[in-house]
Amino acid sequence: MSAIQFDQVSLQFPGAARPAVDQCSCEISTGRLVVILGPSGCGKTTLLKMVNRLYEPTSGKIYLNGQDIRQVKVTQLRQQIGYVIQQSGLFPHMTVAQNVAVVPKLLGWSRSRIQARIDELLTLVQLPPQEYRDRYPAQMSGGQQQRVGLARALAGDPAVMLMDEPFGAIDAITRATLQDEVLRLQCQLQKTILFVSHDVEEALRLGDRLLIMEKGQIVQYDTPFNVLTRPANEFVYHLMGADDRVRQLGLLRVETAMQRSPGASLNGEPTVEQRDSLRNALSLILKTGAKKLTVLDQGSPVGILTLEHIRDSATPNSVP
Ligand SMILES: Nc1ncnc2c1ncn2[C@@H]1O[C@H](COP(=O)(O)OP(=O)(O)O)[C@@H](O)[C@H]1O
Ligand SMILES: [Mg+2]
Repeated sequence: MSAIQFDQVSLQFPGAARPAVDQCSCEISTGRLVVILGPSGCGKTTLLKMVNRLYEPTSGKIYLNGQDIRQVKVTQLRQQIGYVIQQSGLFPHMTVAQNVAVVPKLLGWSRSRIQARIDELLTLVQLPPQEYRDRYPAQMSGGQQQRVGLARALAGDPAVMLMDEPFGAIDAITRATLQDEVLRLQCQLQKTILFVSHDVEEALRLGDRLLIMEKGQIVQYDTPFNVLTRPANEFVYHLMGADDRVRQLGLLRVETAMQRSPGASLNGEPTVEQRDSLRNALSLILKTGAKKLTVLDQGSPVGILTLEHIRDSATPNSVP
């Protein structure tokens, strides 16, 4: 069963020339981090907001864990879904602790359980509780506020997280740190995440699937590797900048091109981490003259990577 299923979902705003979301169908498996990618105005936010019923589709259905979301009370639905937006949406008159406690309070948790949860979550998003609990949003940087927004969205332990360009207004260095944070949380907590972005680099960095939208329609839903190397149409090809191979190698992770081998071991060959870019792997091969690299997952060997693997990853790649 998929965590989220869109079945022929459309939304036509009154008076608009065309639907903002047009006949979208797609199934998102549990535990995936799916990035919805497309230019401004293509319908990403509208699609996302239908999942927690901030908008209702004009036609079609959305299922959460197999259940039609219209059969669930809105308040109950939203308790199962964490929501993070660009402007953090923190209540300015509440402290960090009070902001994080909003959902647990709604859920009727005991005072001690709520206090423990606040400390746990602030620690998780790397804001030491004793230092940050009693601050107000205005006393923190944009990046720190987004961390609190993330902690608040996670508070009721929702299975699904919706994130709408959460780091769009944050400087590049902090954004990269927060992206790492999302990947770590995803790994640690196994949430199903729908993450909206209009930034190709961010999408490739985060997504294990990309959902590409153009004018309200889903034009491709696939792995980052396939979207880059086999774009569904010319729009996707140009969106991804697929004509620039060197850039492409810089964006693709080693794990997308490597050959996995269960019995892999360290044998003196140069090593590369599977999350590293193919571009770095290529430089290592060229620099050392090695025939192959041993690929590591956090230090443990999981497979190999050769020049041929890298070459294959970049070949087809023509305008369809
Ligand atoms: N509340 C609304 N009322 C009318 N039109 C809207 C509303 N929200 C979005 N739209 C229109 O729907 C289209 C898709 O918008 P949106 O989903 O916000 O795009 P994105 O998030 O991809 O930038 C745009 O043409 C936008 O102007
Ligand atoms: Mg948007």
